[in-house]
Amino acid sequence: MADQIRVLIVDDIPETRDHLTKLLGFESDIEVVGSAASGGESLTMATSLQPDVVLMDINMPDMDGIAATEKLSAQVPGAAVVMMSVQGESDYLRRSMLAGAREFLVKPFSSDELTASIRQVHTREREKQSRMSALPVQASNAGGSAPAADDSSHDGQVIALFSPKGGVGRTTVAVNLAVAAATELGKTVVLMDGSFQFGDVGVLLNLNPKNKSIADLVPELEAGELESIDTFVINHSAGIRVLLAPPSPEMAELITPSGVKRVLDALRKTHDLVIVDCTSWFNETTLAILDSADVVLTMLSLEITSIKNMRLFLEVAEQLGYGQDKVKLVLNRADSSLGIRVSDVESSIGRKVDHTIVSDGRSVVYALNRGVPFFLSNREAQVSQDILRLAEAIAGDRAASPSEAARKPAQKKSMFSFR
Ligand SMILES: Nc1ncnc2c1ncn2[C@@H]1O[C@H](COP(=O)(O)OP(=O)(O)O)[C@@H](O)[C@H]1O
Ligand SMILES: [Mg+2]
Repeated sequence: MADQIRVLIVDDIPETRDHLTKLLGFESDIEVVGSAASGGESLTMATSLQPDVVLMDINMPDMDGIAATEKLSAQVPGAAVVMMSVQGESDYLRRSMLAGAREFLVKPFSSDELTASIRQVHTREREKQSRMSALPVQASNAGGSAPAADDSSHDGQVIALFSPKGGVGRTTVAVNLAVAAATELGKTVVLMDGSFQFGDVGVLLNLNPKNKSIADLVPELEAGELESIDTFVINHSAGIRVLLAPPSPEMAELITPSGVKRVLDALRKTHDLVIVDCTSWFNETTLAILDSADVVLTMLSLEITSIKNMRLFLEVAEQLGYGQDKVKLVLNRADSSLGIRVSDVESSIGRKVDHTIVSDGRSVVYALNRGVPFFLSNREAQVSQDILRLAEAIAGDRAASPSEAARKPAQKKSMFSFR
């Protein structure tokens, strides 16, 4: 039957496999296509069987469920993993979700919980697929003022999130800033993962690259035309669009500086904001992104290394001719100082910090575990309000309100670009 949900069971205990197979045997819309006794076996079986859902035990002797899920996400991206664990610890949940699992069941669970989870992930997966393929350019931005896709006079802003040191919150801020600008300011927003080797945007938004990433644009970039860029931009339910990094690190080198510039030019033609999550090291592609950007939101934290690198970066930025209008400083976790004050930072780098964002591990980690941006799950938190203020500062006052923008498309260019 074509519309049965095809399930692969992975558990090292034979009785559990049999029990689960029997339970699911009662469901007419579910078919158990196989059962694997180890993480390693699950990879081979999933590759040949292409199941819709994989029920994965977390504790297995050879390759544990988390490692197997990580590999599965890359090798069989169409299979949604439901993790099963005897422990409900948040660390397990977090690691499973990071590895790409879509649901987490704590043993013992009832057969209702089991089948509901399987159906739910399957439905979500199918919806995601159809959203990706069916939606026209701006349709996912329900609250937004979609500029006409063919309005060639429209030139959105490119906002690069950069930091000369890793782990300071670029990806976290990029994702939530994008959601804030879309949901609160009514902008059409595309978020591009510019960390081509080890991009994290997909993890934060619970997206697995299913042949939808910037890598798929390489043939067109080489041919000198970018016709199907929209096909590879994912419409996310949070109201934003996403262009993911390549699914594997070695593909990053296919993305050239001139290619990335062309991609950004194409994206800014059809969106109010193009937000790019960059790497923390300089290479030619990162430089191409920073060059193309209207604003470089440069992130730092209250750590000596971050401050030292920032000083060096600001010198480079000056040599590159980036003015203070272009390079804006964002201090993340601004209230978490261990002896370093904001004023110390400012006197050390010789410049005022433009924006601050508070530290809120609870909201940030909760959101990460669920693959839902905290701006949506914890809208009232101070960290969300800080993000909104940042969004307003970079996009709110430079652009017309949604209704104005819709009325006066001819003025957009001057309003959006301030280079
Ligand atoms: N404002 C914040 N409050 C608490 N934790 C944060 C905040 N911003 C980022 N983090 C955490 O810091 C870590 C690094 O963030 P991430 O966005 O991945 O940084 P980067 O992209 O710069 O490497 C993550 O664990 C993230 O959850
Ligand atoms: Mg990152």
